[in-house]
Amino acid sequence: QVTLESMDYLLALDQGTTSSRAIAFDSHGRVAALAQREFAQHFPKPGWVEHDAAEIWSTQLEVARECLQKLSAEHGAAYGSVKVRAIGITNQRETTVLWERATGRPVARAIVWQDRRTTPRCEALRAAGKAGLIQRKTGLVLDSYFSATKLEWLLEHVPGVRARAEAGELAFGTVDSWLIWNLTGGQVHATDASNASRTLLMDIRTLQWDDELLHLFNIPRAVLPRIVPSSGIVGEVLPKWLGEPIPIAGVAGDQQAATFGQACFGVGMAKNTYGTGCFMLMNTGTAAVTSRNRLLSTVGWQGPEEGGERRTAYCLEGSVFMAGATIQWLRDGLGIIDSAAEVEALAASVPDTGDAFLVPAFTGLGAPDWDGRARGTLVGLTRGTTRAHIARAALEAIALQSADLFGAMTRDAGIALTELRVDGGASRNDLLMQMQADFLGVPVVRPKITETTALGAAYLAGLAIGVWSGGAAITQQWSVDRRFEPGLTEPARRACLDRWREAVARSRGWAEE
Ligand code: G3P
Repeated sequence: QVTLESMDYLLALDQGTTSSRAIAFDSHGRVAALAQREFAQHFPKPGWVEHDAAEIWSTQLEVARECLQKLSAEHGAAYGSVKVRAIGITNQRETTVLWERATGRPVARAIVWQDRRTTPRCEALRAAGKAGLIQRKTGLVLDSYFSATKLEWLLEHVPGVRARAEAGELAFGTVDSWLIWNLTGGQVHATDASNASRTLLMDIRTLQWDDELLHLFNIPRAVLPRIVPSSGIVGEVLPKWLGEPIPIAGVAGDQQAATFGQACFGVGMAKNTYGTGCFMLMNTGTAAVTSRNRLLSTVGWQGPEEGGERRTAYCLEGSVFMAGATIQWLRDGLGIIDSAAEVEALAASVPDTGDAFLVPAFTGLGAPDWDGRARGTLVGLTRGTTRAHIARAALEAIALQSADLFGAMTRDAGIALTELRVDGGASRNDLLMQMQADFLGVPVVRPKITETTALGAAYLAGLAIGVWSGGAAITQQWSVDRRFEPGLTEPARRACLDRWREAVARSRGWAEE
């Protein structure tokens, strides 16, 4: 086993939907330094969301450097004397990048997971009876959320790209691949099994790209990265980027990494991350469970080698597209708060929403409704409705959407889940967490370290190089900050959920194209 010395760290690169972050952890899993930078969101048409992949890379590199500088400053040491033993990458998933192998230049802006432009294509595939095949092979629902139709769109719509892709000149990747490619100077084109499980192109059981799916979405094999385990050395960062050749030893999609960072290693353990969206994942063990309630079956992680074997953990997942982004909309779209932090006090200034509901289906609805044509709606407004009621309705919407997921998960798992672990920015909002416990009817547990996405990536990397011996060592480091007990009677809870479902029904099928 490797021991980290006092100046040794693991560096997690957490490339999210709205910001690039770098966090250094010590061997106790404590945050030692953090740097973060937001980057531009592009909305060229209604329902379209794009990122400039070059900016994703440049901001990610900048924050990694800044984080190392902060670490050195803390130790009073020159930049370069602090040692990063390994890097873990974690990332916004599904977002699709296509670039030239020769130059590393993207052929177009990245199509972000929230982008709904391929909804008509998904509808056509559903009409052609392909949804069953897709769910059986990938564990996913046929929806524009995932990468395959986004990549197909790029191949169809960017001039000259299909022929170049077929000739092997182009590389496709989700954001993990894009970062690995850049960090290794184009030497490694790889993705981990958790990220690959979000493309609609990988067979979730064999962990291999699937020819039938590639054919269905017209994707040439030549563009695809190699699928690698989530914990294991993938390649080395070029010394010119961070001063030394650091191994990239952990890679996982951000929600899977958060599940790992929350030490949800036992079957039935679940976490919910409150980021741009809300993502609830429950560990289902070493077998992929097929959902009967429109949840996703996904690879949690393909773990480190233990006794010559690698164990794949599977999860059930419910994805809600708008969580923190709803609060951003209150700030930037509606202008009723100046900063996201204000929402808690404003919402707490009224005892209830006065029966108003905000359904934040701004980019359609994810699980369990899966409606790419749903759009946001505010119902139940009266002359007495104030911005405080709307702020409260926004917080309730986040908790209610998560309660829908929790209900579906309980039905799929066939067991009563006894608590929910929470993390992500908005998990620090006590009012929201209390609402969450109330709507779930089970306790909500917030750990001391809520940077669990980055922490999970650091753990995956650290396990690969022997910093931690296994899950038990990680479980020991997880500790509770606060437990929120449910406060509603069962009939009151049911009534809230039913009323919410009525509001959701009014948002469905609104968009025409
Ligand atoms: O599936 C999308 C998800 O990975 C995005 O996560 O944290 O950027 O909202 P986040």
